[in-house]
Amino acid sequence: MSCRIVLGAQWGDEGKGKVVDYLSADADAVVRCQGGANAGHTVVVSGRKLALHLVPSGALHPHCEIILANGMVVDPLALVDEIEALERAGVELRSRLRLSTAAHTVLPCHRIQDQVEERRRGNGGIGTTGRGIGPAYADKAARTGIPLGWFQRDDANLRATLRVAIQHKLEWLRALAPDLAPEMDGDIERLVAAAAVLRPLLCDTTQRLHALVDANKHVVLEGAQGALLDLDHGSYPYVTSSSCTAAGVLSGCGLAPRDVTSVIGVVKAYATRVGNGPFPSEIAGADGERLRQIGHEFGATTGRPRRCGWFDAVAVRHAARISGCSELALTKLDVLDGFDRVLIADAYLCHGELLRHFPSDSETLAACKPRYVEAAGWSTPTTNCRRASDLPAAARRYVARIEDLVGVPVRLLSVGPEREATLHWGDSGR
Ligand code: GDP
Ligand code: IMO
Ligand code: MG
Repeated sequence: MSCRIVLGAQWGDEGKGKVVDYLSADADAVVRCQGGANAGHTVVVSGRKLALHLVPSGALHPHCEIILANGMVVDPLALVDEIEALERAGVELRSRLRLSTAAHTVLPCHRIQDQVEERRRGNGGIGTTGRGIGPAYADKAARTGIPLGWFQRDDANLRATLRVAIQHKLEWLRALAPDLAPEMDGDIERLVAAAAVLRPLLCDTTQRLHALVDANKHVVLEGAQGALLDLDHGSYPYVTSSSCTAAGVLSGCGLAPRDVTSVIGVVKAYATRVGNGPFPSEIAGADGERLRQIGHEFGATTGRPRRCGWFDAVAVRHAARISGCSELALTKLDVLDGFDRVLIADAYLCHGELLRHFPSDSETLAACKPRYVEAAGWSTPTTNCRRASDLPAAARRYVARIEDLVGVPVRLLSVGPEREATLHWGDSGR
């Protein structure tokens, strides 16, 4: 039996999709536990690239059961589109996809509310993905949300339920942003049509997961976003609205800490952040642009250019500590091929003080300047390496340095977007 948590240990987009796809080869079930269609997980198999937003990244393995658990916020229209797009690409889903009745609904008006709130923040905007995530979680917490289980009601009943919820939002939207307020009847009919597709998939996913774990099956819990975007532990307010740590993943699916056999923190060999908020190791200028171009650092959900920086061991240590990462999966090492030197932040300087920990408030973090250690670069390409011993010596030293500074062993190393471009790193790599 195994129950592995795979989560982002930076600011999202670490390559979780690739790692989950790789690890799902022997999984019985792959589960999304939090977040919604703000996630964009890219999987590349046999030259074919698929971007997943709500469906877990194990979906490309036809034997895997696919579960969207309680802690998610699900946009029914986006989910139906995603199921249909995957099916057009030859990925059959409906017979193996289970959707929690306790997950919450992202309504079209939540998306608009997200945009309106961003517009009102002006220059202080968070830079959300505009997918309605914050407003849907806010309604859930205020007990004014719509659990997906209510989509099991008959059409007339569902129409009435949606009308009450949408009417309430529209009053607010019409007052604040009359230009953006949607037309209600069209939205309700689209949601009722989506209900027909989703009803057969709805069930109690917690019971299902308990049954799988009790039957000693292999389960992968796929975190979305990254620990540094966590609502409680990230740089508030420049965070997402869910818990992206191991604890958040567990509370989102109803499994317990003792069920977990490993926690895999996925990290890029450098750092990126999309959206606003402090980012101490951000690189201004040519090196940052070079990483963006070579690493294709443009958002899978919004297409926005990602901000790029050097590997920040202070931030990753923090992320690994709050989630109890037992191992790291280090991705995109190939993107650093050809750099003369590579930097790693090992501490921060803040108001004349040396900080070795990640500060809990974003104003302190914004005042932090990284202290870098320098590592030699390598010119030999790594992307065709399939064993740790094939890597150039300087690349091996870089990986070992990251392990030492973070204090967690690297087990998987990724040197390209394809499934095959994955190697196992152990003591042999050092
Ligand atoms: P996620 O949100 O954590 O799943 O990450 P994204 O899919 O948003 O972004 C990661 C991007 O890097 C995707 O385009 C992947 O195909 C790509 N990728 C993943 N691993 C590697 C790697 O080792 N090397 C390179 N060059 N690209 C990778
Ligand atoms: P994956 O799963 C990177 C960021 C947004 C914004 C902040 C809040 O692909 O790693 P939200 O729409 O959630 O209210 O936006 O969080 N963000 C992500 N950044 N990867 C993600 O997901 C993200 N999901 C949200 O850019 O800064
Ligand atoms: Mg992503």
